[in-house]
Amino acid sequence: MPKTALMCPPSFFDVREPKNPYMGSPIDHAKAQEQWEGLRRALQDAGLKVEIIDPVEGLDDMVFAANQVFVGHHKQIGNFIVPSHMRYASRHREVKFFVDWFRQRGYKIINLDLDGEYLEGHGDLLWHPDHSRIWAAYGLRSTRGGVHKFAAAMQELSFPVIPLQLVDEHCYHLDTCLCPLNQDAALIYPGAFSSESLQTVRGAWKRIHELTRDEALKFLGNGIVVNGRFITSRLTQNLEQILAQERLTPVVVDTSEFEKSGGSVFCMKTFIG
Ligand code: ARG
Repeated sequence: MPKTALMCPPSFFDVREPKNPYMGSPIDHAKAQEQWEGLRRALQDAGLKVEIIDPVEGLDDMVFAANQVFVGHHKQIGNFIVPSHMRYASRHREVKFFVDWFRQRGYKIINLDLDGEYLEGHGDLLWHPDHSRIWAAYGLRSTRGGVHKFAAAMQELSFPVIPLQLVDEHCYHLDTCLCPLNQDAALIYPGAFSSESLQTVRGAWKRIHELTRDEALKFLGNGIVVNGRFITSRLTQNLEQILAQERLTPVVVDTSEFEKSGGSVFCMKTFIG
């Protein structure tokens, strides 16, 4: 179970350049700050320590701390990160600040040669709950070649990587359509995956719970599972039933301002230990 999350305050959060189909409406900055604090509190109430990385002026999406690096732990090499190559240049500028943050704390940096390829951290790369393997999506933000290079590097650490192809531009990151709930169960939006990838996902979990497209587009698949809780931006009857079946207690944190940028709770933190 994760013990620490890293977050970036939304001091410079804004919507300037549309990078996904959700982006367009103006941000209420005071409300965004309140909602971000609500999420930080919910993580702390769930027993997590929350670390902060300083926001940087001009980096309007830096609040989405899930994307800039992939974080892992290996029994021989210890804590490590794999820096992302973000598809949008404006977001790629965030990466070096995260790399510095982790370097200062002793993480090993595994740099990939991602020239011409993209890889977007925990937006598209999700640990299986027991950390035995990594689910890795490509097609909309990360590229197949980026995932391939990532898989080769992880193979050297004996972490298998399972590639998945995304096909719905509203589910442009894996964290919008696959949410592992525990070892045996996952929440998915089936329409986000190519048919072959959907089969792979279905074959890997004992229980697959499905969201409708409407639920997925409202970010119900972007929840955070921590210490028996499921932190989510909203609930539906369907989601309530699923969580009850998996013995997870829902905690609702409003993220409406961040949804105007295409992200919700999962995107706004990264687990670091
Ligand atoms: N506006 C951001 C972008 O398009 C949102 C990122 C959401 N992050 C996530 N992990 N899904 O890059």
